[in-house]
Amino acid sequence: MCGIVGYVGDREAAPILIDGLKRLEYRGYDSAGIAVYNSHSTKVVKSEGKIKVLEDKIGGAYPEGRMGIGHTRWATHGRPSDINAHPHGDCSGDFIVVHNGIIENFQELKEWLESQGHKFQSETDTEVVPHLIEHFYDGDLFRAVRMAVNKLEGSFALGVISRKEPGTLVAARKSSPLIVGLGNGENFVASDIPAILQYTRSVYILEDGEMARITKDSVEITDFEGNPVSKEVFQVKWDAVAAEKGGYPHFMLKEIHEQPKALQDTMTGRLYPDKGEVRLDDIKMTKEGLESLKKVFIVACGTAYHAGVVGKYVIEKLARIPVEVDLASEFRYREPMVGKDTLVIVISQSGETADTLAALRESKKLGARVLAITNVVGSSVSREADDVLYTWAGPEIAVASTKAYSTQLVALNLIALHFAKLLGTISDEEFREIALAMKKLPDQAKAILDAEGEIKKMAERYADREHIFYIGRGLDYAVAMEGALKLKEISYIHAEAYAAGELKHGTLALITEGVPVISLVTQDHLYEKTLSNIIEVKARGAAVIALANEGDEEITKSVDHVIYIPRTHQMLTPVLSVVPLQLFAYYAAVARGCDVDKPRNLAKSVTVE
Ligand code: F6R
Repeated sequence: MCGIVGYVGDREAAPILIDGLKRLEYRGYDSAGIAVYNSHSTKVVKSEGKIKVLEDKIGGAYPEGRMGIGHTRWATHGRPSDINAHPHGDCSGDFIVVHNGIIENFQELKEWLESQGHKFQSETDTEVVPHLIEHFYDGDLFRAVRMAVNKLEGSFALGVISRKEPGTLVAARKSSPLIVGLGNGENFVASDIPAILQYTRSVYILEDGEMARITKDSVEITDFEGNPVSKEVFQVKWDAVAAEKGGYPHFMLKEIHEQPKALQDTMTGRLYPDKGEVRLDDIKMTKEGLESLKKVFIVACGTAYHAGVVGKYVIEKLARIPVEVDLASEFRYREPMVGKDTLVIVISQSGETADTLAALRESKKLGARVLAITNVVGSSVSREADDVLYTWAGPEIAVASTKAYSTQLVALNLIALHFAKLLGTISDEEFREIALAMKKLPDQAKAILDAEGEIKKMAERYADREHIFYIGRGLDYAVAMEGALKLKEISYIHAEAYAAGELKHGTLALITEGVPVISLVTQDHLYEKTLSNIIEVKARGAAVIALANEGDEEITKSVDHVIYIPRTHQMLTPVLSVVPLQLFAYYAAVARGCDVDKPRNLAKSVTVE
């Protein structure tokens, strides 16, 4: 999730670009750069690090020119570095591009372009774009960009300038946000409204498959076939702070709503149900390496640990390798039985959590191979692990983790499928069934989000309680743990998750009249068992909110309220069932007047023991 900005008009472009990038820094901040056109040449300045580093490099001597593009990066392909920072150009420096998104077929395009004599400088997927434009250019930049985007698979928001067509800025969008800001004698492009809010409140919001030819006095929009598109001007009413949160009152709610896109991005270029393939190029483990494994450990903290609990179920089920899940803070001090025949999977959104990093180092010292699942390219965990699988969730700003968790679940499912394929423990039919179900998850998560009003009402109804219990069996229990953590960390309501079958061994004593019990019943093979536990708590006066699969009418007879999730493969229910639980925690916290994005006593990245 990077940020892009572009300007064409009568003012100096560089200060506008830098200012816009600062306002987009929340979208990514591992490197930044600008390109400004002036009298037959384009000056590019870029550097690793935050925008402040770029500003220091420019040192007040802004490149002169009245047209330019800028970029703040959140690395996906290629580590954060000066060379991988955007903008990127073609061989001759004629065409300069900034990009947000992931070009899925970049490898194949790169090989083809190299065979045509193109030379590449960076490790990024983006660099194929200026080379493609150079290839197609025959005197019309807009046309050349159109031909190039028709060759791209994946997601992109692009800003393009060329010294061959001074005064023309081209923008194109597919599955990554992009807007065109309309000024007086000047126009803008940006990934998001905050970048241009101080210059204009009139914008076109480009849809997927649309592109724009922008000059200082005109904006022409077409689809990728070249057919004209007419659009309504959107008037922005938000203030600057609300704009940064995409109009949401809190980053947490924004990030909950970003999950369909984050899930989609995490599968991009990796999962091919019809070809029966899962491509995890960054995981170099071989079939022989996997066969030599006696055990897998999953080690993490907090929410990432909860994702690991789901990971145990799915890896054991599909790849038939024994998996143990451990809290990093415990693992590192208990002389774990780890050696050459062990794979340790560490999960960390930030990639900087001290306990997880220490567990990683301990595992390597003991001879284990370490595979990291992380959201931050270039983080300590990603640098020190043997293999890395990135969740492409984009920056997570709210302290309470949401989109990182659901994308970690997708990553773990991808790993389970990959291992199962290598080991031959999955049939083609089962692979296809799971892969197809995974592909539907983004739309299904969106359907849950579209119906959030009901969950809000329920959260508000129970927000005054001091204790709430979460129960479930199997994968439902794993998600119950995450639901309870979300609620306690942001609303300060005491919340506990229990394996439903464990209640009678002690906790049932706490269930009295009116105590809310959120009961997850998405696992068909455990349905009757969990239902009995629901009846037990109901008999003690509990107010039961069930989280069930769509179409389950039976459950309504035994509970007070039901939240439904769309039907998916049984192994994938956690990805969907966590969404209502995140919303429930969020709206309960808001109703209690809590500081949702920055809960007391907590920090986003825990770099101390
Ligand atoms: C809870 C939460 C934390 C983190 C934990 C690990 O919402 O965010 O429990 O999951 O601190 O952080 P990472 O994943 O960065 O290692």
